[in-house]
Amino acid sequence: MMATEQPTTAPNDPRLISSEPRSEDHAADRSLRPKHLDEYIGQSRVKSNLRVFIDAARARGESLDHVLLYGPPGLGKTTLAAIIATELGVGFRVTSGPAIERQGDLVSILTNLKTGDVLFIDEIHRLNRVVEEVLYPAMEDYVVDVIIGKGPAARSMRINLPRFTLVGATTRLALMTGPLRDRFGAVMRLDFYDYDAMRQIVRRAARILDVEIDEEGARVLATRARGTPRIANRLLKRVRDFAQVSGASAISAGVADNALNRLEIDALGLDDIDRRILLAVIEKFEGGPVGVETLAAATSEESDTIMDVYEPYLIQLGFLQRTPRGRVATRRAYEHLGIEPPRYFSDQAPLFQVEE
Ligand code: ADE
Repeated sequence: MMATEQPTTAPNDPRLISSEPRSEDHAADRSLRPKHLDEYIGQSRVKSNLRVFIDAARARGESLDHVLLYGPPGLGKTTLAAIIATELGVGFRVTSGPAIERQGDLVSILTNLKTGDVLFIDEIHRLNRVVEEVLYPAMEDYVVDVIIGKGPAARSMRINLPRFTLVGATTRLALMTGPLRDRFGAVMRLDFYDYDAMRQIVRRAARILDVEIDEEGARVLATRARGTPRIANRLLKRVRDFAQVSGASAISAGVADNALNRLEIDALGLDDIDRRILLAVIEKFEGGPVGVETLAAATSEESDTIMDVYEPYLIQLGFLQRTPRGRVATRRAYEHLGIEPPRYFSDQAPLFQVEE
């Protein structure tokens, strides 16, 4: 592998709940990561489409068309990219948007690919525009044009590339340019995992890590890992520590509940920062709307991190709404935090009532 895991938007995020990769994750995560599509739990829509594309490409003896995976961090974009390479029986090369600074860096990566290889570019929305232009002909016609020499003697030379498959991953589809997005044959969205998939993922991870966990313990972890396998795996390891220190032979609901409470992760998986974000909207901005930059300043968080990491789950829970004028807290957010919802929520209610 070449340059691998790059810092993301929150490289030093100390939060246990963060879905950004952390160094402690890597060694264990590699063994937890499924290697084949059949082992991959959840995301059934994406999985069944990929199965068709992979089988068709194999049957034709061709490289797979370029694939773009998007969705919140921690849902398995890198894992799926590696699975694609394994299923195709080809090499897997990994890099990321911010790691490729100059055109030459990308040319060198591309010219070192072997026929059929999967090139994975994580955070592809962070590629700079000049570098991105190298990708267009590479993706479309499997060529790169390089300039040799300087000044009047400079010449352009075309280099043919082997057929390869680009798998791009992004947490922010909207930040990608149209021309780049259009060059992917398949664009697939990963969603938060549902409860059932999360429970299976927790049980599978416990089996691999050789941790005893009962049905109820798995239920607690599955409901509090915000639909994100990376978080489930991390919480499992922390809860295992608590179980071990307290002398429990297995992770039961009580053990998991107690450990997660001590880690200040609430019943829905929200942590201190999620609560601070919601509280800021409610208390400092009267429930919103408030712009994300203002919210970032008020909570001392990066606006990118708010948009990539926190907001998607708060929106999924129906606690936050994204409106053209900014973020708005919903009645459910007030209720979850135990704050009296303002009158306008009840004032609005009659609008939806049918007159008798
Ligand atoms: N570990 C992390 N993500 C997973 C998934 N989707 N299926 C199985 N194991 C996983």
